[in-house]
Amino acid sequence: MSDSNLTIAIVGATGAVGAVALELLADRSYPVEHIIAMASSRSVGKKLAYLETELTVIEATPDAFEGVDVAFISASATVSRALAPEAVKRGAMVIDDGSAFRMDPAVPLVIPEVNGADLEWHSGIVSIPNCTTTPLAMSLSALGQVARVKRVTVATYQAVSGTGAAAVRELDEQSADILAGRPANPQEYPHQIAFNVLPQVDDFTEDGYTGEEHKMINETRKILHDAEIAISPTCVRVPVPVTHSESVQVEFEQPLSKEDATRLLSGFPGITVVDDPQASVYPMPAQASGRDEVFVGRIRADASHPNGLALWIACDNLRKGAALNALQIMDEAVRRGCVKPKC
Ligand SMILES: NC(=O)c1ccc[n+]([C@@H]2O[C@H](COP(=O)([O-])OP(=O)(O)OC[C@H]3O[C@@H](n4cnc5c(N)ncnc54)[C@H](OP(=O)(O)O)[C@@H]3O)[C@@H](O)[C@H]2O)c1
Repeated sequence: MSDSNLTIAIVGATGAVGAVALELLADRSYPVEHIIAMASSRSVGKKLAYLETELTVIEATPDAFEGVDVAFISASATVSRALAPEAVKRGAMVIDDGSAFRMDPAVPLVIPEVNGADLEWHSGIVSIPNCTTTPLAMSLSALGQVARVKRVTVATYQAVSGTGAAAVRELDEQSADILAGRPANPQEYPHQIAFNVLPQVDDFTEDGYTGEEHKMINETRKILHDAEIAISPTCVRVPVPVTHSESVQVEFEQPLSKEDATRLLSGFPGITVVDDPQASVYPMPAQASGRDEVFVGRIRADASHPNGLALWIACDNLRKGAALNALQIMDEAVRRGCVKPKC
């Protein structure tokens, strides 16, 4: 089966991730007659530009999945919980962007470059990781080929598009308001995000970490098949439109040199090393946005531990962090002959 023969549904086609999914499909000239754009009842009839033509949005209802081969759901966990089983019942493979099924032991959580083989055991639903987990897990997978990862501390610098299209509009509006001397009007976040930094992504839990931080811990362990890795994240929202960055310290079981780390990262599919600090060359959101790769730089020995390395990552959260990873899962499932569950 070729993937351009598959009929695909984009649930959440009017949102931030859905828009990028359509952009990526247009880049592949995916046939418009095989794409169904779905969203909430609010968007029914809305036209979305696609190549030389347009797609008309329909409401995502259970029956709308009749005849769909692959359903990409990028809406909310509630929507995924309601619609994914309905789509599977009607014969579709669901590739879900949200958090609803990620930690379900019956659902593979997949980055094709890292654990594509986990697709072999899906039974209808496959989850994609949180947009902060994907670049971290790819980098750890690359480095872990030579030295087992024991412990990770990571601070994220997360773009507002990670919250959705409304947060991007809020950053624009708040920036304009503040520059004009008007008060900011926070809606999407507990505080103003323009000209500010918020050490909170998601709600706090009893242990003082946030839901987003727990996602990074649990999802990374599931993807790398290593429940023992110790991970301590601090997730931070910054006033950047697109691309999450991460400052990472990794402790290995044995020493790993900067040179070996650079070689491993450079050779890993989907990762590009950008690392010439003397020339002020390192990954940045302004350069990583709109790009497919995970960019890694500032690779150096960790001054605080003989088995430690420090690095800096930047990754477009809407592309490899979401829509691109989802499309690559479809490609990988086609390649492995497991769009339909094997078991
Ligand atoms: N943004 C990221 O970087 C990122 C990365 C990884 C994963 N994700 C996940 O992807 C999902 C979407 O995120 P987003 O950033 O694209 O959000 P968004 O910009 O807020 O878009 C939400 C989309 O969901 C649709 N929707 C809402 N209620 C619906 C319903 N009842 N039935 C069908 N569609 C409905 C909306 O349609 P209407 O326009 O009709 O309301 C809209 O298309 C979330 O689960 C998020 O956790 C996001």
